Amino acid sequence: MTESTAKLEFGGKTLELKARSGSVGPDVIDISTLYRDTGAFTYDPGFTSTASCESEITFIDGDEGVLLHRGYPIDQLAEHSDFLEVCYLLLYGELPTKAQKDDFDYRVTRHTMVHEQMSRFFTGFRRDAHPMAVMCGVVGALSAFYHDSTDISDPHQRMVASIRLIAKMPTIAAMAYKYHIGQPFIYPKNELNFAANFLHMCFAVPCEEYKVNPVLARAMERIFILHADHEQNASTSTVRLAGSSGANPFACIAAGIACLWGPAHGGANEAALNMLSEIGHVDRIPEFIARAKDKNDPFRLMGFGHRVYKNYDPRAKIMHKTAHEVLGELGIKDDPMLDVAMELERIALTDEYFIEKKLYPNVDFYSGITLKALGFPTTMFTVLFAVARTVGWISQWKEMIEDPHQKIGRPRQLYTGHPQRDFIAIAKR
Ligand code: SDX
Repeated sequence: MTESTAKLEFGGKTLELKARSGSVGPDVIDISTLYRDTGAFTYDPGFTSTASCESEITFIDGDEGVLLHRGYPIDQLAEHSDFLEVCYLLLYGELPTKAQKDDFDYRVTRHTMVHEQMSRFFTGFRRDAHPMAVMCGVVGALSAFYHDSTDISDPHQRMVASIRLIAKMPTIAAMAYKYHIGQPFIYPKNELNFAANFLHMCFAVPCEEYKVNPVLARAMERIFILHADHEQNASTSTVRLAGSSGANPFACIAAGIACLWGPAHGGANEAALNMLSEIGHVDRIPEFIARAKDKNDPFRLMGFGHRVYKNYDPRAKIMHKTAHEVLGELGIKDDPMLDVAMELERIALTDEYFIEKKLYPNVDFYSGITLKALGFPTTMFTVLFAVARTVGWISQWKEMIEDPHQKIGRPRQLYTGHPQRDFIAIAKR
């Protein structure tokens, strides 16, 4: 990594700040001594120009539409890997050998059950509770059951907690779905792989054999791979900030789930499908495009735009292909939502407003069509995103905990409130 300097003139002083280059991507200017040397803070709400950490896990080139996990392009991983292989890569930094993969699969598979008492949490929720509300509660409650893997200073416990979270998220997600629809919970089956096991827990019923469709299971694996990690996005930054205080990993992942729920982030897949069904027909697209461009209308095209990608989200391309594969396998010839989505994309990509603001479809634009075709209700879409993103969250959390320079995250502010003033008795107000 090369170093250079940046000069800053402020308050009659000239400061020399260290600048560092990464292996690829933008350089950073180290401002950690700025407040000490100038008494001033930097100001960057939304962190549009701020690197919060150093990381070796995921790299995004927003202009080129590139996404690398430990250097491997997302399209190659989506094509050749299964989800647990990508989990291993994110956690350990290298693709596993056959022996390492078999051992990792074995360890994850044998952590897929949850403590039997956890099933009692669900009955406290209304059946129509949003499954993301259930996930926030039940995943946070994992820390009440696994005291033997909450000591974050112990590398063994950190890895056990990581494996437990990767393994149990699909089980808890499937339980949330089954509770939502009033069906009995289905236990994991160790002979099934990650995605097939998840589909079986969601769609099997005790009364008959459920055969997982291998084409749909492969599509589900690919969808999990596409959502596994994405650099310092809002929910990952939430997990890092929660973890920086020393909170246990289960609580940190529950915080990540809460942040992911927002429609500007992981909730966009649910919002995008709801938008497509509200549009309903290609004839109504111009009306919604106009609303998206209207400064006075808070409406935005869900599944479009991205803080980093100013080009096509590489995951959206793969998701689009997966949507066609799944619809084809299920014999769904003309899904009106897909027609609306493709026409909306065509119009948006030729519209001056979207071109000028570099708004392209993101990972959430086509995922909803695929997940709906797989049989999930829209309320489960962000839950599936959370199942996949757990490995990214926990890998980033682990990297932060193992960083010798790590300290609690505590941003400052620009204060624009009242200067000090004295209390006034109520009789005098
Ligand atoms: C995810 O960060 C990640 O990596 C997230 C994620 C991951 O894997 O973790 O990739 C997953 O969250 C994908 C994004 C899903 N969200 C949506 O699809 C919701 C719709 N998109 C927008 O809300 C928005 O694009 C964001 C939140 C995604 C990004 O917002 P930014 O970076 O803060 O950009 P911005 O809001 O400042 O927008 C820039 C301009 C604005 O216009 P001006 O104020 O400059 O005139 O573009 C406009 C916005 O009004 N704009 C849109 C738009 N998105 C941005 N206009 C219409 N429709 C949109 N979708």
